Amino acid sequence: YDLTDRNTFGLQCQAQFAYEVSAPEQLPALMSAIKDSNLAWRVLGGGSNVILPANLPGATLLINIPGCEISKSDVSYTEVIVGAGMGWHEFVSWTLDNDLPGLENLALIPGTVGAAPIQNIGAYGLEVAQFIDFIEAYDVQANAFVTLSKDECRFAYRDSYFKQNPGRFIVTKVAFKIPQAWSPKLDYAQLAQVLADIQDPRPQDIFHAVCQIRTRKLPDPKVIGNAGSFFQNPLVPNNQFETLNQQFPGLPSYPDESGKRKLAAGWLIDQCGFKGQRIGAVGVYQNQALVLVNHGGATAQDILNLAKHIQETVLQKFGVALQIEPNIF
Ligand code: EPU
Repeated sequence: YDLTDRNTFGLQCQAQFAYEVSAPEQLPALMSAIKDSNLAWRVLGGGSNVILPANLPGATLLINIPGCEISKSDVSYTEVIVGAGMGWHEFVSWTLDNDLPGLENLALIPGTVGAAPIQNIGAYGLEVAQFIDFIEAYDVQANAFVTLSKDECRFAYRDSYFKQNPGRFIVTKVAFKIPQAWSPKLDYAQLAQVLADIQDPRPQDIFHAVCQIRTRKLPDPKVIGNAGSFFQNPLVPNNQFETLNQQFPGLPSYPDESGKRKLAAGWLIDQCGFKGQRIGAVGVYQNQALVLVNHGGATAQDILNLAKHIQETVLQKFGVALQIEPNIF
């Protein structure tokens, strides 16, 4: 089964077996068959956060569970239950079309609704965790469907209980809780700047502004293969941040809920001179140093070699270790 068109890096990949999952009810029998035959397995959503090898042995589950329904609504919140296979951007557009604003800052993030909570996608001052009520998943260890409350999902920056327990859960549905009260979230300076001319921006204005910024700074995977941010923004203890900040004035950083300081990995990489560099088939995107790109014909190894070189250079210059964000299969 050819996965070349199902990963945004555009890596050539042949999966030994692939199974399309279009309803949660398929999972118990499918997973028990996979276990019985001792096959390795993994889940693929939109393929926008993965690095695939040329040959992927075992079973690859393509999660295509559809659906998007308002399940309840009261004076404070509307709850929407969404199938894991729905496209994330499609869902954000749906919320705006249905007069349920709140998610507009997260427009144009690639991938599926089911993948969104796993790495707790975030952009322009919001994280998906803020809108999650509960998650339905198949627990492969327990052979049972489970419902995890938001607290049980243990969300943090680009992290969750699902990510901490790889190979255990298959997300089938995500329940969102969207507040009736709406106010624009414009803490992110670049977004505020794009909207500076609009008095009282509406959700649609923010949606369009976010799409505009992302289109300008991030490569379109249909044109040039990539998986968005390739590294996480590193969290460092405050004393290390103070030292770095004195040594490298202008180092962009943000406070994090964990109490640590979050540094802009893109800036660190940029300072090492990598932006726009190309090594064979791979490179660092010219408009955003945090994004590695496939200029055509790259392999997973090409990407990982470049990543290692960047990690070593950044570690040497700043003493900061960068962590790869996409999943390496
Ligand atoms: N910067 C540079 N050079 C670069 C890139 C960035 O100097 O080449 C500096 C910028 O000037 C800015 C700072 O680094 O001061 C942060 O850059 P930016 O605002 O572009 O955001 P980011 O930290 O690079 C994060 C997310 C993105 C998300 C944006 C917007 C991570 C790993 N990445 O990027 O998420 O869209 O903020 O909120 O947290 C993704 O995860 O795939 C992704 C695109």
